[in-house]
Amino acid sequence: MMKFLSLLMIVVICACIVLPQISAQKLQDKVTCSSRKSRCFLRSISCPKQCPFTTPKDPKAKSCYINCNSPICKAECRHRKPSCKGIGAACYDPRFIGADGVVFYFHGKRDEHFALVSDTNLQINARFIGHRPAGRAHDYTWIQALGLLFGPHKVSVEATKASTWDNKVDHLKFSFNGTEILDSATSSWKSLDGDVTVERISSANSAIITVYGLVEIGVNVVPITKEDDRVHNYQIPFDVDCFAHLEVQFRLLDLSADVDGVLGRTYRPDYENRAGLGVAMPVVGGYDKYKTTSLFADDCKKCVFSSKNDGDDKGSM
Ligand SMILES: *[C@@H]1O[C@H](CO)[C@@H](O)[C@H](O)[C@H]1NC(C)=O
Repeated sequence: MMKFLSLLMIVVICACIVLPQISAQKLQDKVTCSSRKSRCFLRSISCPKQCPFTTPKDPKAKSCYINCNSPICKAECRHRKPSCKGIGAACYDPRFIGADGVVFYFHGKRDEHFALVSDTNLQINARFIGHRPAGRAHDYTWIQALGLLFGPHKVSVEATKASTWDNKVDHLKFSFNGTEILDSATSSWKSLDGDVTVERISSANSAIITVYGLVEIGVNVVPITKEDDRVHNYQIPFDVDCFAHLEVQFRLLDLSADVDGVLGRTYRPDYENRAGLGVAMPVVGGYDKYKTTSLFADDCKKCVFSSKNDGDDKGSM
């Protein structure tokens, strides 16, 4: 009997030592970088205990993520959804937060395109949708789509039109060089060279688009709600369109001093905010300076993009 008991104890002790190690491994995701340009290329890095999963079940939990641009190969925690309160945000009708943290509005026009960021090796345009209630002097506008140009490549993300809104139905559509990528059943997509990734961060209507070394863009698709409509008196015709649009947050990673665009100009080293001072709702003009002829055009007056810079020369890493 004693022998049996001590044997049992040994088994229990062994199980206690071994089991947590096994389960600890399973309770933590690993992340890696798929771009050859990254220092962490194909290295397998364990997620921190504070955020063990890349796609946690709780939508509010922080997720594990690796910044492939960083010289340090270490996984970090972050909020998955873009924040409309953070630097680089473009939300609502449209309200931007510049590099200096100052909030401003830009009055564009519906069904037209504007350069949000135009730099030597990156261009980001937005297509505006909008609505003008009877008697108003200008359109209310929202960002419906983004078009990215870098080198000879083109990426787009758009919110598809909806009359009635259902959170569970996906309204995101992506394209790479004109071909649709990532249908609603697929959680992530990567270009062949690993430089472009698109990753869903919940089952519907949220994603992160990364162009290696240049930009990370968090997007949500949201509708205009009855409450928004009441507060702002948009007079939305809800029976035909709920104006599904994008909430965006940009993380711009490699800008030159010449960067321009509605949002981009706030990242210039010589930028001085003149719109903000003492005004409750600073509105920035620039319709003529930033208007492009299409989602993928770089023909605005202030555009500095050149497709000949493919970004491969900045490989000091
Ligand atoms: C995208 O298209 C451009 C020109 O149409 C081409 O030069 C480029 O290689 C394409 N990108 C990829 C990754 O296929």
